[in-house]
Amino acid sequence: MELKDLVEEVVPVAREAGKILLRYFGRRLTVERKGLRDIVTDADLASEEYIKGELERRFPNIPFFGEETGGAEGGIRWVVDPLDGTKNFARGLEVFAVSIALVEDDHPVAGVIHVPARDLTVRAWEGGGAYAGDRRLTLDEGSPLSESFLATGFPHGNPELVDPYVEGLRRILKRAMAVRRMGSAAYDLAMVAYGIFDAFWEFGLAPWDTAAGAVIVREAGALLSEIDGSPWNIHSPTIFTGRRVPYNEMLEIFNG
Ligand code: IPD
Ligand code: CA
Ligand code: CA
Repeated sequence: MELKDLVEEVVPVAREAGKILLRYFGRRLTVERKGLRDIVTDADLASEEYIKGELERRFPNIPFFGEETGGAEGGIRWVVDPLDGTKNFARGLEVFAVSIALVEDDHPVAGVIHVPARDLTVRAWEGGGAYAGDRRLTLDEGSPLSESFLATGFPHGNPELVDPYVEGLRRILKRAMAVRRMGSAAYDLAMVAYGIFDAFWEFGLAPWDTAAGAVIVREAGALLSEIDGSPWNIHSPTIFTGRRVPYNEMLEIFNG
């Protein structure tokens, strides 16, 4: 099957998972602790159960990995975050997303991110471009940092990342027009591809947070690497992406 056709078949799965999430949104949730300052809700689990079942039904030969239930760790597989932005969701803040990627070893080759609150689905496959509905997403080179609108994420699960992260943030805050912390990395990446944010960086993310977004930003024309400019893959400890002009300026600021 062509990657394009596969992506078109994943779109309704991501959108339906979004509808499932919206049925839980704003209601009383069952919240469980799952790690250091991390939670999981019944909405995360319901979304993953649906996505897993649906992908296995439509693509019986492609193994599945989901944040909540695990699965295949190598080769060709789905890598899914059924609800990215769980803490926002649990507090009733509408910034959250569904993220589904097709990954080959460490390298994502196709991705779909659905943002239920905006009813926006962005999708991309390697070599085929990034799209929102019929619109092809193509980013220009952007503007200097003083005119750039940036997104980032704070490290929270690993206290050791805080100091190096804050050092970079401190430098960027002195130069950028504005920096936002939305609380959903998949949302942030979708919004880079969609042209709302000019760049995004975060430390300490997991493959399911970034896999779909990475293909989507790249196919939209953003640069993507680790924070030091080295090649990015789904296991990278940092992610950094943006339009060419702010990306280059930030690369120098982070590493200068
Ligand atoms: C989280 C979000 C958040 C990021 C965290 C992730 P989750 O995902 O993407 O923006 O800062 O590191 O864990 O737990 O809501 O799926
Ligand atoms: Ca996540
Ligand atoms: Ca999640």
